[in-house]
Amino acid sequence: MINQDDLLKIESQFKKELEPIDQLKNLEDLKVFYLGKKGTVTELLKNLGSLSIEEKKTFGKKINELKEFISTLIEEKKISLTESLKKEKLEKESIDVTLPGKNISAGSYHPISLVIQEILRIFSKMGFTFKEGPELEEEYYNFDALNIPSDHPARDDQDSFYIAEKKLLRTQTSAVQIRVMEKMKPPLAIITAGKCFRRDSIDATHFAMFHQLEGLAIDTSIAFTDLKGTLALFAKEMFGSNTKVRFRPDFFPFTEPSAEFACSCFICGGKGCPTCKHTGWIEIGGCGMVDPEVFKYVNIDYEKYKGYAFGLGIERIAMIRHDIPDIRLFFENDVNFLKQFK
Ligand code: DAH
Repeated sequence: MINQDDLLKIESQFKKELEPIDQLKNLEDLKVFYLGKKGTVTELLKNLGSLSIEEKKTFGKKINELKEFISTLIEEKKISLTESLKKEKLEKESIDVTLPGKNISAGSYHPISLVIQEILRIFSKMGFTFKEGPELEEEYYNFDALNIPSDHPARDDQDSFYIAEKKLLRTQTSAVQIRVMEKMKPPLAIITAGKCFRRDSIDATHFAMFHQLEGLAIDTSIAFTDLKGTLALFAKEMFGSNTKVRFRPDFFPFTEPSAEFACSCFICGGKGCPTCKHTGWIEIGGCGMVDPEVFKYVNIDYEKYKGYAFGLGIERIAMIRHDIPDIRLFFENDVNFLKQFK
């Protein structure tokens, strides 16, 4: 038999169970437990049939009220639960737009790259085209064809990194001259820049890897004066319009005559200072007229053609230009050093 107490008990039991629910899934389970096909309230309704008409009337109404009550509370709870879950999620995902942003530090060109770019800009204005050659070079291009005989000290194992029989890391960009002359017909004017390697002991001005700039121009009527004019113009563009140049006799196996090339010190204007070691001059590289012996290697008619060539040390130029006291700074990858060259 159903009685009023049972209904009140069910109601208070339901309230007790509803109270702590904080998940929609549990709420749904509770709903099934009371109002589902086999739910507590549904069972009561099913049992109504066994009651007298009078009882049916009273309890039928009461059970339906209970059913209504439970379903209303469940719906209300569902709404409030959905709301609070949404709020919780939003709170978790919220972004404080007033927080200061993170600084993303942008990279910059390496000072050597900047100097190379500058040099290429200057020479391309003068009509030189840029060419490249391999860093892993054959002995033939690095030495033989440059008229460097096999007993020349530059060939000594002390100076070069041999990787295999007759293959080495190039010691000078002059090797590119030969590769170019093999492929291009004169007249030509080319420039190349890149890494070179020597087994030097490392100190403030020497490193096992460094960069060179190399130029080569060939035509029927080229003379030493063209070489001087070209390098003088380069020096003015690179170091300032008051820069003077100096050529002194030197020796390189692949040029004849050969010269050492220096610029007036642009720090002191030639008066003498620590940068130029009080000489007023800064040596930048070597140059000269292409030796006919070299032309023979690449089948260029040395009766008809003349050429000049030059090779400059890029670290040297960069060190002087930016007042950098030690070559090792270029290759330590210290961000504090590198970021100064934006
Ligand atoms: N290759 C030479 C060196 O590394 C520099 C040089 C001198 C290059 C004279 C030249 C040149 O093209 O003509 O010391």
